[in-house]
This record gives sequence, structure tokens and C-alpha cells, in this order.
Amino acid sequence: MNKLSIVGAGMVGEAAAQVIAREELCRELMLIDVQGELAQGKALDVWQAAVESGSDTRVIGGSDAQMLQGSELVVITAGVPRKPGQSRQDVLSINLPILDSILADIRRHAPTATLLVVSNPVDVLTYRAWSVSGLGRDKVFGQAGVLDTARMKCFIAEQTGFSARDITALVLGGHGDSMVPLMRYCAVGSVPLAHFLSTEQIERIVQRTRQGGGEILGLKKLGSACDAPGVAIAQMVDAIANGRNRILPTVAILDGEYGRKDIAMGVPCVLAGGGIERVIELPLDAQEQAMFDHSADQVMRDIAEMKAL
Ligand code: 2OP
Repeated sequence: MNKLSIVGAGMVGEAAAQVIAREELCRELMLIDVQGELAQGKALDVWQAAVESGSDTRVIGGSDAQMLQGSELVVITAGVPRKPGQSRQDVLSINLPILDSILADIRRHAPTATLLVVSNPVDVLTYRAWSVSGLGRDKVFGQAGVLDTARMKCFIAEQTGFSARDITALVLGGHGDSMVPLMRYCAVGSVPLAHFLSTEQIERIVQRTRQGGGEILGLKKLGSACDAPGVAIAQMVDAIANGRNRILPTVAILDGEYGRKDIAMGVPCVLAGGGIERVIELPLDAQEQAMFDHSADQVMRDIAEMKAL
């Protein structure tokens, strides 16, 4: 990829920039923030770290929206993180106008760029970015499930004692307490998880995964998770930049899949050079579909709240 921009030089934007630059996923990486000097300082630091790792990605920071020009992909991480005790939806009224002004800049300077939304509430803001940008649903999507899945893999590795390398997991639904970990699709070395863990142990993992972001927030207090979200963003960027055809849980606009339309939520998608190549519709059993519907209803309520603002 030639040029990629990250809008929002907070902790998550910086962490994503570090991985993207170190892995040389683009030639030029813009780190853009309303606090221009902060973005410049972080960009210099990230660039110098990347050079130490043998990468030639050039990282440039600043506040000028013109930096977006020519970007093939724009990652949006700007906005305030929630505080301990808040839900992701609680930061909507602050983060929505921030997103809208970024979308106006993108329309002016990089109208055909693919958009990867990370700011919270991510399902609602991905929906907003899609509806405002006028782009196809292949070009506008969000990050949540890669992170949620990584969390679940950690907890499975801890509980089973097996290497996380051999663990596959899948989380669907909204990025919130109603997210839908699909335990039937979780395995260690291709052996279904139920072979190793009891229903109660699996249920504890599901609960901890649902509250994974809140657990970190409650401990850090002044900021939410950043390192794992940064790596999750970089994985999605890598799939696009290298046209990998990876199947990754992605916040996507649904158009009838899983019985839902006109909503953004986490489902498995094929990510390739052009963005979302395909939404994968898995057969869900009655209990999984009920959890998915519960999550979708919550996201629909959140989207309705956004539309009323
Ligand atoms: C998380 O789950 C910040 O939403 C992000 O940690």
C-alpha cells in the first residue's frame, strides 16, 4: 500500500501506527490529530522505532487535513475513550461530532479511500461512516472482533494451558456486553473446546471476553486498552494491504445476512485488497441466533439513539 492515514493520535492510534510502520504495511503513514504537535512528536518516535526495526515506512504527523490526500485507507481512532463504569455508547455524544468532522475532511481530501473505523461506539460509528460517506459497504467497516477474539484466545490459553498459537476462536455481534462468542467454532489444534473444558469453564471465558475491555479500563483507570487494539487494527490493515483474503471478524454493514439489514455489526468477512470481499453467513443454531438477535437489537437501539442526536 502506498499511503495510509490514521486520524487520532491517541493511545490506540499510536499503538496501531507502531505495528503498521514496523511491519512496513505502507510506504507513507500519516498520523493526524487536532493536536498537531502531539501527532508530530508521536510520528517521529514511531518512525524512528520503525527504522530501528529495518522498516522504510515514512511516518509523518500533523493536524492538516490535506495530509489525507492520496490515502488508500483511512483508519479512524479519534475520540474520547470511555471512563471506568461507562459503556461504549456513553461516549457517543462526544465522538459523533468528532467523526462527522473527520468524514467531512475525508470527503474533501480522500473521497475514495477505504475507511476502517475504530472509535467507539464502533458499531454505531461504522454505520454513520457508511451512511455519510456514500461509499459501498465493501469500503467502510470497523474493528472490534479481531480484538475480542484475541481476548478470548488469551483466556482459553490460560484455562487449558495450551499454546495460544493453536487456538481458533470467533466472536460475532456488537462490540459490547451483548457480543456473541461462538464457542461451537472455538477449537484448540482443531479439537473442539468442549473436549477440554466444562460448560461452566466455557461460560466464565465468555463472560470475561464480553467484559474484556471494561476489565482493562477498570484497572488502568485513565485509559482503555491500546496495545491489543493496535495489533488488531494492523492485522486488518495487513489483510487489505497484502490482499490476503483473510477471514476476520469485521464490523460490517449487513444487507440481509443473519436476517438483518441496515445495521453494522461484527460478522466474519473475507478481507482482501478491495476491502470486504464477502460477508460469510454461518449457520447458527437457535441459541446462537437468539444471542445474535439480542445483540443486533441492542445495536439497532444504539443506532436509533445516534440518529436522534
Ligand atoms: C476495548 O474493547 C477500547 O473498545 C475497546 O478495549
